[in-house]
Order: sequence, then structure tokens, then C-alpha cells
Amino acid sequence: MLSPCTNVTRNLRMLPNGYAMLRARIIGTGSSLPNKILTNAELERMVDTNDEWITTRTGIKQRRIAAEGEFTSTFAVEASLRALEMAGISADELDLIILGTVTPDFPLPSTACIIQHEIGARKAAAFDISAACSGFVYGLSIADKYIRSGIAKKALVVGAEVLSRIVDWTDRNTCILFGDGAGAAVVDASDNDNGVLSTHIYSNGSFWETLYQVGSGSRNPATSKRTIDERLFYLKMEGNDVFKHAVRAMEEAACAALSANDMSPSDISLFIPHQANKRIIDATAKRLGLTEDKVFINLHNYGNTSAASIPIALDEANRAGRLSSGDIVLLDAFGGGFTYGSALMRW
Ligand code: COA
Repeated sequence: MLSPCTNVTRNLRMLPNGYAMLRARIIGTGSSLPNKILTNAELERMVDTNDEWITTRTGIKQRRIAAEGEFTSTFAVEASLRALEMAGISADELDLIILGTVTPDFPLPSTACIIQHEIGARKAAAFDISAACSGFVYGLSIADKYIRSGIAKKALVVGAEVLSRIVDWTDRNTCILFGDGAGAAVVDASDNDNGVLSTHIYSNGSFWETLYQVGSGSRNPATSKRTIDERLFYLKMEGNDVFKHAVRAMEEAACAALSANDMSPSDISLFIPHQANKRIIDATAKRLGLTEDKVFINLHNYGNTSAASIPIALDEANRAGRLSSGDIVLLDAFGGGFTYGSALMRW
């Protein structure tokens, strides 16, 4: 019987894999979420929607929302400290901090620099990356390359968002989907078989207008009257288009990871996809032939937290004892841009 990936990988760009003995290995995870819970019942009082519609179309039951005085860095710093504590290392051992976010504290400086300062990572280089919901997988891919090349030994990869500040709370098409929070992972150089086996990251900018927030950049400055009048600082989305592309892209990225490592879906111990919509996750898992017990889902609690979704899920799976040494773990992401990608790890 053909593997579910046989047709999908035929035309994919394959990157060389395993060219160095070193690889990044996650040695600590952490997450942080706002205390405030916004339920579907509460949303019913804000826009024309209902719990039944949201649950059947998305699987989401509630999401966390940052309070006044809480920022992306608030959660990023807390998640990072928890990851460092689990890793048992101090912040000044870090060589690199990479933050995936589309809701940084400020355009300048990077929020990664705020994290660097607040956790006391005195010798780390720090930068943000903008890859939307694929931000953590992109960040892990970059950290892995720095470690494989021998330039960095220990890195902190974070995904953090306060999406509630760019969500249009009058738009029922989008406001039901998103939530706030952060997740982080400390990676260390590993010279054995445990760690990141491969990463594959991709983009397709031709679809950028299906998921975007165009206010406050150089095209539409935050100070311009048009940005305010046309509400350009809010997130906008063509849900149906995003849905279709997400399933196809996540299948492609997952299959690229498996093919590069001569594995098949049956080798996967735990599949941790981006938590955008339960129907997207179910459709992707079905295409890969994965059974429910191999798929980690927590989006009913948090909604779509963009770059934070995979590291929050990874931390929950880790702390729940779902990851054992030697397990094959597949991270699979898709987001605005479009961006997408996968990371295959031996835990
Ligand atoms: N409550 C009730 N009805 C709603 C609604 C809401 N919150 N949002 C939309 N609707 C209505 C629409 O207006 C439409 O009504 P109409 O038929 O009278 O025009 C109807 O529900 C169907 O809308 P549609 O957009 O076709 O629904 P859908 O099945 O595609 O589900 C999404 C909408 C957004 C849940 C789905 O497209 C999705 O999840 N897309 C991916 C989004 C995503 O994950 N983005 C981030 C990627 S990283």
C-alpha cells in the first residue's frame, strides 16, 4: 500500500538533512497564559454568534485574553523563565533568543530584546521573526541551524502573542478564533540521536491578502488618518481560502519531514499541529492516516494563539508526560504570509 505521503512529496524541495553531527535538542519547555477567560457564551453577548456555531466550525470553547498592563513580553518572559527552570540552566548561558510574534510590544525595539533584558541573558543575540502562526517552527529551524553550524550552543525559542489587541471585536468572522499567550523552549546542542532531525520551512506570499493586518507599517502609517478611518490596524481574513490552503500545506510540510528521515506516519509518537481550527487538524491528521490518540489538541481552551500555539501545546504535552525519550514528535505549522513548515524531533 502507498504511504499517505507518496503523492504529496513528489514535487517538494528537499533540503539536505543531517549533514552535521550536532543538532538542537529541546531540554526545557514553558508556557504562560493570561488569567482572563473569554467563553463562547460571553462572545454571544458581543457579536451575532453562538456556542454551537463556534464549537462545530472550530472546536474552540474559550480563549485567554490579556488584561490591561499585560503585553506580549509579559507572557513571553514568564514562559521563558519556566522553560529555563525546567532546562536547569541560567539565562546567561543562552547564546540566542528568537521570538516569533506578529504582536510585538513595539515595532522597535524587538520584543526579543525585552525578553533578553528581563531574563538577564547577558550574552545572547536576540531578534523577532515575523512568520505568523509558523513563527515557532521557523524559530526552531533557525536555532537548529545555528546549533548545527556550531555558532550557538544554547538557544531560547519563543512564540508569544497578544492578538486580542489587533482583533476586531465587532467582526464575528475573526474575533471568535483568536487568543493570547506564550510558549517557549530551551534548546541545547546534542551530539546523539535525540533532538531535531529536520526542519522544513516554506512560504507562499501570493496569498498574503487572505490573512493580514495592514495598518501601522510603512504603507499605512499608524499616524495616518486612513489607517484609523478604515480600521486598517485590525486583523482581516478570508476564512474559507485559509482553511483549504492550511490543510494542503500542513500535509506537505509533514510529508517533507517524514520523507527526509525515511519515516512514515506510523513512526510518529505525537503530532503537535498549529492549533487554529479542529477541522483543519482533523483533516490534516486524516490525510496523514494518524489516529486521534497521536494528535495533541488544546485549542478548545485557548483558541488560535498564532506563534504561541505550538510551544504552548508542546509544553502541555511535555508536562502531562506525553513525551518520552526516543519518541518521534512532529510539529506542523501554517500561518499568514502564507508561511508553513514542520520540525521532526526525536525526544
Ligand atoms: N457565528 C455565526 N455565524 C458566523 C460566524 C460566527 N462567528 N462567522 C461567520 N458566520 C456565518 C457567515 O456569515 C456565513 O453566513 P452566510 O452563509 O449567511 O453568509 C456562514 O456562517 C458560513 O460562513 P463561512 O465563512 O463559510 O464558514 P466556514 O465553515 O468557512 O467557517 C471559519 C468559518 C473562519 C471557522 C473557517 O473558514 C476557518 O476556520 N478558516 C480558517 C481560519 C484560520 O484558521 N485562520 C488562521 C490560520 S493560521
